[in-house]
Amino acid sequence: MDVYIGLLGCGTVGSGVIELTRRRSAKIADLTGLRPVIKRVLVRDVHKARDVAVEHDLLTDRAEDILHDDEISIVVETIGGIEPAKTFILEAIRGRKHVVTANKDLIALCGQEILEVAEQNGVDVYYEAAVGGAIPVIRPLKECLTANNITDLKGIINGTTNYILSKMTETGASFEEALREAQELGYAEADPSSDVDGLDAARKLTILASIAFQTRVRLEDVRVTGIRGVTATDVAYAQELGAVIKLLAVGKDRDGILTLEVRPTLVPKHHPLASVSGSFNALFVTGDAAGDLLFFGRGAGSLPTASSVVGDVIDCLRNIKLGVSGRVGEVLMFRKRVDPAKAEPVSHYLRLQVEDQPGVFARIAAIFGDAAVSMETVVQKRARGGHAEIVVVTHKAAPVDVDRVVEALRALPSVRAVAAVMPVESNGDT
Ligand SMILES: NC(=O)c1ccc[n+]([C@@H]2O[C@H](COP(=O)([O-])OP(=O)(O)OC[C@H]3O[C@@H](n4cnc5c(N)ncnc54)[C@H](OP(=O)(O)O)[C@@H]3O)[C@@H](O)[C@H]2O)c1
Repeated sequence: MDVYIGLLGCGTVGSGVIELTRRRSAKIADLTGLRPVIKRVLVRDVHKARDVAVEHDLLTDRAEDILHDDEISIVVETIGGIEPAKTFILEAIRGRKHVVTANKDLIALCGQEILEVAEQNGVDVYYEAAVGGAIPVIRPLKECLTANNITDLKGIINGTTNYILSKMTETGASFEEALREAQELGYAEADPSSDVDGLDAARKLTILASIAFQTRVRLEDVRVTGIRGVTATDVAYAQELGAVIKLLAVGKDRDGILTLEVRPTLVPKHHPLASVSGSFNALFVTGDAAGDLLFFGRGAGSLPTASSVVGDVIDCLRNIKLGVSGRVGEVLMFRKRVDPAKAEPVSHYLRLQVEDQPGVFARIAAIFGDAAVSMETVVQKRARGGHAEIVVVTHKAAPVDVDRVVEALRALPSVRAVAAVMPVESNGDT
């Protein structure tokens, strides 16, 4: 039997969904007893050239051709952004259509509302592709690992920033040079702010943390620092210290108190996350029974993302066949508290620009001592034009204490600038 699909969007992901659905339709029919057929494809411009061969009469620029078609049982949303995607998805759900989406922005901001409406209407909503592209991570967290208390999430979940930081490490390029190259190669958008300012990673962490910690995490709960402030100097100093700089997304649950952060971080070269380069993603998950798990793979791209989308479609088909659609199961959540002040002690890297005068170092050391933050490594870098650069790596210290050190250093007349502050991953820690 054929099951009709309405596809919203035919860009990078939508094209991949068309190609993979066609390639696998016979196999999917064998597996599920139902054959997926893409009946209509919504786009903005029906005359635009497409990356995939798509019959012209499949294309439409009228959403109602899909949302009001009673033959269509599954709507796949690959438009992106909040509106009109949200309105389309809610209308599809209210029309008793199952929904598969790759839209991390929408799920991060409105996921709970969408899932509640889905539960009321007894339909499936799946969004495996919203985090990690091809990497199966949502379903393992939601289903395979539910016997655990998940305590830690830590990963590289934005390919654009990972590409830029990898380029800076490999070639010594500045942030601006590496960004320009990423834009030329299509790895970064013309307006790259959502990626480079860490918002995309924060949205994905919101989704992952909500599922892993079984609570409602909001985007505002995540402390976010992007990579615009990472300089070629910091990348070079990190290498001298045996590390690379990565944008890490980190979520922790300590007995119901959560800390959530996206931040450039020094990662030791032999740490598994250090070798995740280019547009790849990786996520460590720690469960109290399972121990450490590592998910790794392509975080974006047409077919890699379609792999997750079409996998979700197959699950919808299986549920339709078995008559068990609508097992949303994410609406009831535990109450937990987000408290950034409870962030655990970690080592920190600080780069200071100071007056090149006697006695300066003693004053700086006193500030660290007063805040009980001990220094593990101190390196005085070049002195030029009356100013010197000092790099400090601390022993593990509570981020709130390091914040106090930074505030006091900034008030010291002989400190021209606290040019960089980044956490440092422990050796081999996950
Ligand atoms: N790209 C990836 O590797 C990747 C990976 C994981 C998740 N995602 C997510 O997947 C979604 C799609 O990303 P993408 O890269 O495929 O985007 P894209 O290449 O920009 O494609 C968007 C598609 O949506 C259509 N569209 C946009 N606004 C519309 C409107 N108002 N009405 C009707 N159609 C509209 C566009 O039509 P026209 O073609 O006519 O302009 C286009 O076909 C996003 O949520 C993204 O975050 C993407």
